[in-house]
Amino acid sequence: MSNLSTINIGICGLGTVGQGVWKHLERSRADLESRLGVTLNLARASVRDPKKKRAVRIPAAKLTTDPLVIATDPSIHIVCELIGGTTLAREVTLAALKLGKTVVSANKALLCKHGPELFAAARKHGGHFFFEASVAGGIPIIKSLREGLVANRFKLIYGILNGTCNYILTRMDREGLSYPAILAEAKALGYAEADESLDVEGWDTAHKASILAYLAHGTWVPVEKMLVEGITQLTQADLQFARDNGYAVKLLAVITRDFDTGEVFVRVHPTLVPLTKVLANVNEVYNGISVTGDVVGETVYIGRGAGQDPTASAVISDIVDAIILLNRGNTPLPEPVETRAPLTPLEKIHGSYYLRMDVKDEPGVLAKIASALASHGVSIASVLQRPSDRPAAATLILTTHSSHEKAIRATLAHLRKLSSVLGDPLLLRIADFAG
Ligand SMILES: NC(=O)c1ccc[n+]([C@@H]2O[C@H](COP(=O)([O-])OP(=O)(O)OC[C@H]3O[C@@H](n4cnc5c(N)ncnc54)[C@H](OP(=O)(O)O)[C@@H]3O)[C@@H](O)[C@H]2O)c1
Repeated sequence: MSNLSTINIGICGLGTVGQGVWKHLERSRADLESRLGVTLNLARASVRDPKKKRAVRIPAAKLTTDPLVIATDPSIHIVCELIGGTTLAREVTLAALKLGKTVVSANKALLCKHGPELFAAARKHGGHFFFEASVAGGIPIIKSLREGLVANRFKLIYGILNGTCNYILTRMDREGLSYPAILAEAKALGYAEADESLDVEGWDTAHKASILAYLAHGTWVPVEKMLVEGITQLTQADLQFARDNGYAVKLLAVITRDFDTGEVFVRVHPTLVPLTKVLANVNEVYNGISVTGDVVGETVYIGRGAGQDPTASAVISDIVDAIILLNRGNTPLPEPVETRAPLTPLEKIHGSYYLRMDVKDEPGVLAKIASALASHGVSIASVLQRPSDRPAAATLILTTHSSHEKAIRATLAHLRKLSSVLGDPLLLRIADFAG
């Protein structure tokens, strides 16, 4: 613990988030300084291209193109890694942690890929690593899990963690437009990246789910061990079925834990969420997370999951915690002790399912489909037939009673082989796990 009267902050990366942090630290400086009893000095910042026009004005003498200069500068107390990616960001973070510095990061990909290494470096060298902005932008979910809900074990956490997907699904639902049409518009508005695959195929959500699972259960579940499905195959038929039957379709991360066996399971998939659930009504770019603790019960968090200002809000909250740590020695509650929890086998994952497929419009097809499901022990709860865009075809929508994930996957493989099934059937989960 030291008693610093001036805190020197270095911002590595002055893009969307970095500029937001700079802007809002300048704006709230007087208030924060009087509350913390220190002078805040935005000492240095790094960029790749110093000639780029930026919304914040920074004296040239404070700018560098080498973030490692900031990470290793002995006068810098807090290093903010806001570069992104997992290469240079890792180098910068490790360099600072190895000097016992405090690093604040918004980088979920870095944490997901190198989390154990970063925490180990922080522990070994007396540094600290803060990462509130890495999951759900402005929602203080990391602090809630780590501190506010520390009395709890978490049987179920589920959430909407990707604003781009939620925006696309909301617009498809409200306006009846197709996925490609809304995606093109989301790109034009800057809500979706030029390469949208990380978002729409569920990997961004999976990265964030991995971080939440670690905080809740102390175990890192690599994204390759998760069930990850995106939203690219969804059509108006799915959204209309959802609407007509009291659901909204949301891309959810779902983290479950069996307290008896210790097994953890992390999955990401589009889900039919009953409209009675708060998260079914979280729309547009908003994120929402439901956390069920064994002591507190269900708690729900909603807010903007990305963007300059919400993310800056989370980064600044970490900077403030870091200052309290530096000056008062108030160490935040450490991360959970790392364990290797077993993963729940697929045989134990169960739920109700929604299947949509195009079939040849001829007699006996429904009997063949029903027999395929029955042969895997999957029982049908409802069947709906709609006109198909394909010639001489119909769209069948089935829901099932509770079945096992393994059985439904075997059913899908079976259905794909039937000559009367046209194209690839779509499988969605129905959120009966949400109680
Ligand atoms: N944007 C969001 O809404 C959001 C939300 C939550 C978390 N995050 C996370 O926050 C981090 C930053 O995201 P962002 O959207 O602010 O990214 P960004 O706008 O692309 O900014 C990245 C910054 O890093 C600098 N940089 C990149 N490569 C560099 C290199 N090789 N050498 C030196 N500087 C380099 C860039 O310099 P130039 O400006 O000169 O190009 C830029 O200032 C990422 O980890 C991201 O996942 C972002």
